[in-house]
Amino acid sequence: MIHVIPDALTGDALQRCRSLLANAQWADGRVTAGSQAAQVKNNRQLPEDDPVGIELRGIVLGALSSCAQFFTAALPRQIYPPLFNRYGGSQNAFGNHVDNAVRTHPPTARHVRTDLSFTLFLNDPEEYDGGELVIEDGLQGTRVKLPAGQLVLYPSYSVHRVEAVTRGERLACFSWVESMVRETERRELLYELDLSIIQLRGGATDSPEVVRLTSCYHNLLRMWASV
Ligand code: NI
Repeated sequence: MIHVIPDALTGDALQRCRSLLANAQWADGRVTAGSQAAQVKNNRQLPEDDPVGIELRGIVLGALSSCAQFFTAALPRQIYPPLFNRYGGSQNAFGNHVDNAVRTHPPTARHVRTDLSFTLFLNDPEEYDGGELVIEDGLQGTRVKLPAGQLVLYPSYSVHRVEAVTRGERLACFSWVESMVRETERRELLYELDLSIIQLRGGATDSPEVVRLTSCYHNLLRMWASV
């Protein structure tokens, strides 16, 4: 399932990211690509140790840590330190590929299994032509191009691409989540259950049925979660 999270980054945090990106020093994006992906990747990225990238990463991780919808959809166990990219000019596209199953963060040698991938859009669709994230589904593919501050979360096993940007530039943050619940089907069941419980609540006191459903949610999570 593909989740759109509309308020992943808002207000001052989004504006601060925009102003930091205006003076960023971009490098070739192939540094973090696997060998298959490197053949089709043609964009720019901030190096992992770039000071601007480090400040941006802190802002994004801070925002995600307080985003309830991101938490319930991803059930994150760990998030690979987010990266930032730019598509435009002659480096404007990323062809069909699948993300590596395990990412190793070079400075810490920490491994992150990639259960979910995300793209957080950092500028608005009117600022560029093209640049859709296309997630293959065996049919037409799901085409995603969101306003600044919105995030799309999708299974990392999906073949996906970024269409060529033919005007302007597309700025985004992207990364991967290792979920406490590895299996997509189980994670989606928990997501549906959690949303239903949230919608059923509302009074000052929860009904016995809501208490029982909440108990089911936590007992399933207890059964399935790896932490
Ligand atoms: Ni990818």
